[in-house]
Amino acid sequence: MSVKSDKVFEKFTEVCIIPVVVLNDAKDALPLGKALMEGGLPAAEVTFRTAAAEESIRIMAQNFPDMLVGAGTVLTVEQAGRAVAAGAKFVVAPGLDEEVVQYCLDNDIPVCPGTQTASEMMKALKMGLTKVKFFPAENAGGLKMIKAIGAALTALKFMPTGGINASNVREYLASDKIFCCGGSWMVKGDLIKAGEFDKITQLVKEAAGIVKEVRG
Ligand code: 3PG
Repeated sequence: MSVKSDKVFEKFTEVCIIPVVVLNDAKDALPLGKALMEGGLPAAEVTFRTAAAEESIRIMAQNFPDMLVGAGTVLTVEQAGRAVAAGAKFVVAPGLDEEVVQYCLDNDIPVCPGTQTASEMMKALKMGLTKVKFFPAENAGGLKMIKAIGAALTALKFMPTGGINASNVREYLASDKIFCCGGSWMVKGDLIKAGEFDKITQLVKEAAGIVKEVRG
C-alpha cells in the first residue's frame, strides 16, 4: 500500500470506531459532522445508498478538514470517482469488486473492500491489501470467525461492520486482529431524521469512551 493509504489507515486505527451513516438529506451533513467531531469520533463512512451521499461528503470534507470522511457502499468505479471528487478520503464496499479495488489502487485511493470468506480475503491479499472489512460481521460469525481465519491469514487486519453496537464493540476492539470497527448504532437514521443531534453527540461520546477504555 502507498504512504497515503498507510496514513489514512493509521487514522482509522486512531479513531477505532467508524460511524456508518445514511443521509437522506445533505442538510443534515453539517450538524451530523459537528456531533461526530464534538462527540470524539472524527470520522464518517457516508454510504452511497442515497442521492444525498455525494453532497454530504462534500459538505463534511469542506467544513471539517481534520475529519476522516469517506464513502461506503461503493459498488462501481463511477461511484468511487464521484466520491473522491467530492472529497472522500477512502472507499469502503460491502464486497470485493476487483475492478473497484484496482481503480482505487491505481489512483492511490485508500480502499477497504468487504470480505467474508478466506477466498475473498486471499483475493484482497493478492491485490496488495492488508486491511479488509468483515461484513456483515455478526451474521458472518463475528469475532470467532475473524480469529479463526485471521490465524491463517496473518497479514490481514479487519474492520468488522454489521451488527456491532455499544454492547459488543468492546470484545472486537480488544482483539489485535481488528484495526477498527464500523457501525451505525450512534448515528441511526431515526435520530438524524428527528434532528436529535444532541442525542447523537451523547451516543458518539459513549462510543469514544469505550475506545479509550479498551485501547487507551
Ligand atoms: C451497514 O450495512 O449499514 C453497515 O454495515 C452498518 O451496519 P449496522 O447498522 O449493523 O451497524
